Amino acid sequence: MKQILKAAELQQAVAEAKEKGLEIGLVPTMGALHEGHLSLIERALKENDVVVVSLFVNPIQFNNKEDLEKYPRTIEADLDLINGLVSRMGSEAKAKELYAFTPTVDEMYPNGEPKEVYHFGPVEEVMEGPRRPGHFSGVAVVVRRLFDLSQPRRAYFGEKDYQQIAVIRALLEQIKYPIELVPCPIVRADDGLALSSRNMRLSPAARAMAPAIYATLEQAAEMAEYEEVDDVKEWVLDTLASYHEVNDCPDGLRFEPEYFEIVDARTLQPIANWDEAGDLGAVGCIAVWLDGVRLIDIVKF
Ligand code: PAF
Repeated sequence: MKQILKAAELQQAVAEAKEKGLEIGLVPTMGALHEGHLSLIERALKENDVVVVSLFVNPIQFNNKEDLEKYPRTIEADLDLINGLVSRMGSEAKAKELYAFTPTVDEMYPNGEPKEVYHFGPVEEVMEGPRRPGHFSGVAVVVRRLFDLSQPRRAYFGEKDYQQIAVIRALLEQIKYPIELVPCPIVRADDGLALSSRNMRLSPAARAMAPAIYATLEQAAEMAEYEEVDDVKEWVLDTLASYHEVNDCPDGLRFEPEYFEIVDARTLQPIANWDEAGDLGAVGCIAVWLDGVRLIDIVKF
């Protein structure tokens, strides 16, 4: 694995790979890597000749300054994790070219804050979209820049940020780049909590409570066999909002659900009946506050 800090150096490595006819896989991340990210990198290493992992905390996708400041930055540990993965995977992975692209903000945006703005219509007008104005446009700006720099054949994104995948799909349709979008399943801790860089901000007591989110979603998936969409939605929101009333939660901890929507998995538009879901089925997407940390998760129906 080679760390690259400069865009021009990445472009050079990419140009050489392209000349040799090699296929490039891109794994965009904001660092603070965990096993979820490593699963994307592992898959990219299996499916491509060259892999670019970007580690860049993209300021323009944060609409909350405090969230940006608190976002963990752990580059050295991240590079160790990537090296550990390659050793674990063995000779085939070691033979691949692997670049960890770790630019500064100035390197990524040499002309200052980018002016371009992306709109994606209905897919961004639900759930995260209205709650985080400008977020998806900021994601699209950085992802397009990473596409331009690394010219990937495939790009890997985790399904935890389910709406982000729909937005990247819409971005690819807009810019018409021949890149295969590869959505990858959520990796969970043994107790079911979706791995997330934000989990490290939970206190031990909150971390112990957090698995109740996915446990509730799993029960919702069972209820979907016999309950209407609206009833399942209401049950999930009520169960989490009243969790502290029926469980022993220390330190005044409680779940504060921001939304739980059951949507068509492709269009992300809310469905009123299970049979409204199209080719990708239905998915439930949740955002919950716990201990001052905003956690998101999904369940497929
Ligand atoms: O999912 C993330 O970590 C980020 O939104 C991404 C795709 C790396 C863009 O900054």
